[in-house]
Amino acid sequence: MVRLLAVSGSLRAASSNASLLRAAERLSLEGMSIQQYLEVGQLPHFDPDLADNPPAIVVALRELIGRTDGILISCPEYARGIPGSFKNALDWLVASHEFPGKPVALFNASPRASHAQAALRLVLETMSANIVEPASITVNLLAKELDEISIAADPQVRQQIVSALEAFKGWIDEQARLR
Ligand SMILES: Cc1cc2nc3c(=O)[nH]c(=O)nc-3n(C[C@H](O)[C@H](O)[C@H](O)COP(=O)(O)O)c2cc1C
Repeated sequence: MVRLLAVSGSLRAASSNASLLRAAERLSLEGMSIQQYLEVGQLPHFDPDLADNPPAIVVALRELIGRTDGILISCPEYARGIPGSFKNALDWLVASHEFPGKPVALFNASPRASHAQAALRLVLETMSANIVEPASITVNLLAKELDEISIAADPQVRQQIVSALEAFKGWIDEQARLR
């Protein structure tokens, strides 16, 4: 079983990025589970003084990441950058031993979000994530307010998501085989 953790960079209830990740959960493949992480907004502000002895919610996030085989991220662009709350979540993971080397599929719900995507790649690479390119997709959900059922039912988007999940699972399975 390939266990994936999905993390949206938006706290908005009707977030297109969160809907995209829930659509991926609906379309998850046989032998794959996708769990949504919903506590980005509850994480305290990152404090380097606490990085080695973090609050329980951060310990739980790190442990969750330790138990997952890969992370699906879908993050919007705010003022040409990464939303502060999502960057805050990443900052808590910088000093962890669970995050480095973790396979990441970068989903993007807006073709316009190029600055945030570039910044996110740089941050994730700095954190030694393994960005899996064939599993990283951009779809156009901007301002469409679609829920996950409509997204998963759209033939083109559905195909993009399924192909990305197949590529991600294939990559993770291959790495496990090589170990
Ligand atoms: C404060 C704020 C700043 C934004 N800045 C940008 C931006 O610089 N570039 C962009 O393409 N979209 C920008 N947007 C639009 C959001 O990226 C867009 O609404 C997106 O759908 C938000 O993601 P969500 O649907 O997952 O909440 C901004 C939105 C907000 C609320």
